[in-house]
Amino acid sequence: MIFKTFGKTGFKVSAIGMGTYYDPAWILASLIGIKKNSKQHIEAVKAGLNAGINFIDTAEIYHTEPLVAEAVKGMEREKLFIATKVFVNHLDSHKVIKACNRSLRNLNMKYIDLYQIHFPSSRIPLIETLSAMEQLVDQGKIRYIGISNFDLLRTEEAMGAMKKYEIVSTQMPYNINNRSIETELKPFCDKNNIAIMAYYPLAHGKIAGNRQGVPDAVKKVAEKHKSPLTHIAIQWLLSRGENVFPIPRASDPVHVKENAEFDKLALDEEDLKQLNHI
Ligand SMILES: NC(=O)c1ccc[n+]([C@@H]2O[C@H](COP(=O)([O-])OP(=O)(O)OC[C@H]3O[C@@H](n4cnc5c(N)ncnc54)[C@H](OP(=O)(O)O)[C@@H]3O)[C@@H](O)[C@H]2O)c1
Repeated sequence: MIFKTFGKTGFKVSAIGMGTYYDPAWILASLIGIKKNSKQHIEAVKAGLNAGINFIDTAEIYHTEPLVAEAVKGMEREKLFIATKVFVNHLDSHKVIKACNRSLRNLNMKYIDLYQIHFPSSRIPLIETLSAMEQLVDQGKIRYIGISNFDLLRTEEAMGAMKKYEIVSTQMPYNINNRSIETELKPFCDKNNIAIMAYYPLAHGKIAGNRQGVPDAVKKVAEKHKSPLTHIAIQWLLSRGENVFPIPRASDPVHVKENAEFDKLALDEEDLKQLNHI
């Protein structure tokens, strides 16, 4: 496994993380106590941990924090980097504190490595939410603060609202088919050493398995190296910068194991030229 420093944190995380969002139906079922395939999901996360991945992304709204707790049982906490998110309906200062305490209980952990604002709110001033999050850092409940689904303007606003600490990361959709962050946000993050957690790294499964609609260049490069499509998708993202961290979803142990072997592939200049043309 390749390890890279996660932005300003100095913490070495695996170059890929594991996403634990399943789907809205899974969340709805979970609300009435049905945790569909949870054994398989836990096994999937364990498969990633066994393959050397130490970086897991969850969120209060995903309802998967308890699954993460189960999967990491018995592991050395200090070696893991656990990211979770506070949802948009909990951004008032007292709600952020409550949500964080709830996530800590769900995760069965004393601290969260990265606490992220899942989506910006048009109702609650950012300074209110971020001040509460800074308090959580002071209390040792979270180590770092991140954002998710913030455009450039809101990212700048968030940075300006920080009094004691810094925004260390953002989380955005980013893959070979969707490079929209490259126009504005990514150059800004590159300049300010903000880690980018690339969600939908496999284009929500479109660049995986034998799906239709895979760009020809991806197919060609995969054939040339006899590599799974997922390795092309991951290595291409990693080629976009030291601060890019793909977080493919972990729900099937076989898929997670395959994805964790992305470093068997090395893309050459010609491959990158073709892929960058898509
Ligand atoms: N911040 C946000 O607002 C936000 C929004 C969405 C997602 N996220 C995060 O990003 C993570 C990833 O997003 P995502 O799950 O939607 O997209 P993704 O990782 O791009 O794609 C997941 C899809 O790819 C399939 N897949 C993965 N590896 C495969 C393999 N080796 N072979 C064949 N198929 C494979 C999965 O199937 P299987 O399930 O069968 O493996 C699933 O259908 C989420 O889990 C979540 O943590 C964040």
